This record gives sequence, C-alpha cells and structure tokens, in this order.
Amino acid sequence: MASSRGEFSSRLGFIMAAAGSAVGLGNIWGFPTQTASNGGAAFVLVYLVLAFCLAYPAFMAELLIGRYGQANAVTSLQKMSSRSWQKHFAFLVGFGGIICAALILSFYGIIAGWMMSYAIESAASLFGLNSVAEWVIGNSVERNLLFTIAFMVLTVFIIRKGVEDGIEKWSKRLMPMLIGLLVLLIIYVMTLDGAAEGLNAYLNPDIERLKDPSLIVSALGQAFFSLSLGTSVMVIYGSYIAKKENLVSLGAQVTLIDVSIAFLAGLLIIPAMYVAQAQGVAIFAEDGSLISGPGMVFDVLPKLFEDMGMIGTFVGLAFFILMSIAALTSSISMLEGPVSYTVERHNVPRAKATTLIGFVILCISVAIVANIETGLDFVATLSTQYGQPIIAMLCCIFVGWIWHRSSILKELKQGNDSVEHSLFWKIWPWYTKFICPVAIAAVFINSL
Ligand code: PHE
Repeated sequence: MASSRGEFSSRLGFIMAAAGSAVGLGNIWGFPTQTASNGGAAFVLVYLVLAFCLAYPAFMAELLIGRYGQANAVTSLQKMSSRSWQKHFAFLVGFGGIICAALILSFYGIIAGWMMSYAIESAASLFGLNSVAEWVIGNSVERNLLFTIAFMVLTVFIIRKGVEDGIEKWSKRLMPMLIGLLVLLIIYVMTLDGAAEGLNAYLNPDIERLKDPSLIVSALGQAFFSLSLGTSVMVIYGSYIAKKENLVSLGAQVTLIDVSIAFLAGLLIIPAMYVAQAQGVAIFAEDGSLISGPGMVFDVLPKLFEDMGMIGTFVGLAFFILMSIAALTSSISMLEGPVSYTVERHNVPRAKATTLIGFVILCISVAIVANIETGLDFVATLSTQYGQPIIAMLCCIFVGWIWHRSSILKELKQGNDSVEHSLFWKIWPWYTKFICPVAIAAVFINSL
C-alpha cells in the first residue's frame, strides 16, 4: 500500500511543496492587507510571535499525524485511535478538515481567477488588445466563471499526476519563480519615490495597537490560514514524507519560509502603496486607514502600474503572475486532501477522483459566483474563521490527549535519533497538550 501511494522524492521536494501550500494569497495579499489595517509593524510583531509559538506547534502535530499514519487524514487519525469512540472522533476531525479544504478551494479559486485575469489584462495591453484587456478586468459573471474554471483546470491537471510528478515537480518549478519575481519586484519598487515612506509605515510599530484584542485574533487567524492548518493538507503532505527525514527541522524550515515570504510581501505591497500615493493615487480610505483588501490589489496597484507607462505594464504582469503562481501551489494542496481520501478509502483511480472532486468544488464556486456579494464572504468565514481553528485545535487534542507519549516519541525519532534530548521534546508535547488547545479556543471564542 505505502509504496503505491507516492512519496516526496527528496527533502527539497517536500519543503517546496509544503512551502508552496503555505505561501499563497494569504501571504502576498492577506498579510499586507492585515498589516495595513492593523497598525503596521505592531501586527507584524504579534504575527511573528503567534506563528512560531502557536501555529508552528500545531503544524508539527498535523505533520506528525500524517507521517505516522502514511495515509489520508481520516485513516491516519484512525490509526492513532484504539477505542471505537476515538475512531468516530477521528473520522469527524479528518473529514471535517477535508471539507474545510474543499470549501476554501471553492472561493480561493475565484480570487485566483481574478489574479489570472489581471495578468492577462497586462499581457493583452502589451499587444495592444485593448478590448480584451478591458473585458478581462470587467468584473462580469462571465469573466469570473471563465477564469475560475481555467484556474480549476490547472489545479486538476497537476493533482491528476500525483505526488512526485504533479505536486513535487510543479512546486519545485513554481516556488523559485515566485521567490525570484518577488525579490525583483521589491528591488524595483524600492528605487521609486515614496517607497521610503512606505517602509517607515510598515516597520514602525504603533505600540498602542498591541493592546487591541482584535489584532491578536486577526494575527492568529492569519497565521493559521497561512500555514494551511485545520484543513487536512499538512496531514496529507506529512504522509508523503519519508521516515528517514527529520520532521522537526522540516517543519521549522517550512514555517520560516512561510513567515519570511509574508514579511517580504509586506516589503513589496506597503511601499508600493506609498509609491502610488507619490504619483497622486488615493491610498487612504475615508476613515484614514490604508486602503486594503480588493481595493488595494485591484484598484490602487493597477492604477500605479498604469501611471508607470510601458514599464508599469511589465511590472503589473510580473505582479499578477506572482499572485497566480502563489495561488496555484496552494490550491493543489487543497485538492490533494479530498482526492487522497477518495482514492484511498473508496478505491477510485486517482485521475477519476481528481476530476470528479474538482468538478464538485467547481460547482460550489459557480454558486458563489452567482451570489458573489454574500456567497464569498459566507464560505470564507465558515471555512477559515470557524473550520480551520476548530479542526486545528482538535488535531492538537488528538496528539496531546489521545495518542501516547511513547508513540509520539517513536515517530519523531525516525530521522531524528537525538530528539529525546532536544529542547523541542522538552517543550512541544506539553505545549500541544495544554497551551495550543486552550490558546486556540480562547482566541476563537474572542473572535465570535
Ligand atoms: N496557506 C495558503 C495561503 O496562505 C492558503 C491555504 C489554506 C492553503 C488552507 C491550503 C489550505 O494562501
């Protein structure tokens, strides 16, 4: 069984795939948006603390569940259960995560489609195809449908090919492109008027804001979304890691890459907003806060690119390709959760399962597109604000309370002989058992 289910062929393959899942619109759009609307560096500071102190331990719990189980989320959790009620509970948690991933993909694909449409717009204007350019950013239902379908087809195409030939191969190609584009864009923006002011706004903390509980709630939500927690994704990626690999260090490396790219995205977006201001574009909303969310990405930044003339068209093209790549390496991970479950539990061939599930999720996307105002918000809130923290918390409870300490140690020791004497082992089991569930629950309750 294990040999037929695929495995990442190398450490780098896993790191690129897991970082690919983690790094997405959440980093390049969500993080700068949240930073802008939550007092700049104060938010960054809280985010860093929560990412390492709460999200990383929970992330390790999910990776460990998968690596131990060597199977989809439900089967892996059930392998850790000895009593019958535990097996039912395992089903709820694992299946809940899979549904959560599917729901996230159903709205994520629409937003990713917008990114692709803006990339096409830049390309079309380069070739003088003005009517095409206008149509693709026209925000019509047809445009939304077309690009959501196109994005879903790409996602299905990669996932049909499996772990090594699909997820790993494409993550290894796309992630370096993403990092390269991001760095190039930052360097370019830094040379423009207004960038210094933007840097200042990004890196100067408004200490007063640290007392704001809503800032902590937003930062934790952002950290969980960014590490793809509570969606079965990291369980399934964990299940494709070879037993000879050191999980603790792999997990830490992925967390570090994820956090660093969010930080870099802030270095790009916030200064770019101030560059736009220097060119006369309005960047503050009526209440005095920096424009964030869709207004930032689809209004302010495109205006900036337009003002920059020909070079701006290239910069815009690079920016929206960057966004589309980031979205694609995340969306494939969302689809892998439900697909691996269907393949392993219901014996459906991989290609068929992928197409089928892709189609079902696409149907949900179509329903959202038809009710875009309310639908998108509803599904996003349900999956990210409720689903993710609850499932992530239950995964921690599983590892901390249902699994045995000796089994955890045995699993961690594979690929890391000396883990027993490490700081990680002194802190983490206890942390996952008590601190993570309580802290996640507290923040969750506070957010209601
Ligand atoms: N982590 C991704 C991002 O930051 C989103 C994601 C959420 C991916 C849940 C997989 C599962 O955009």
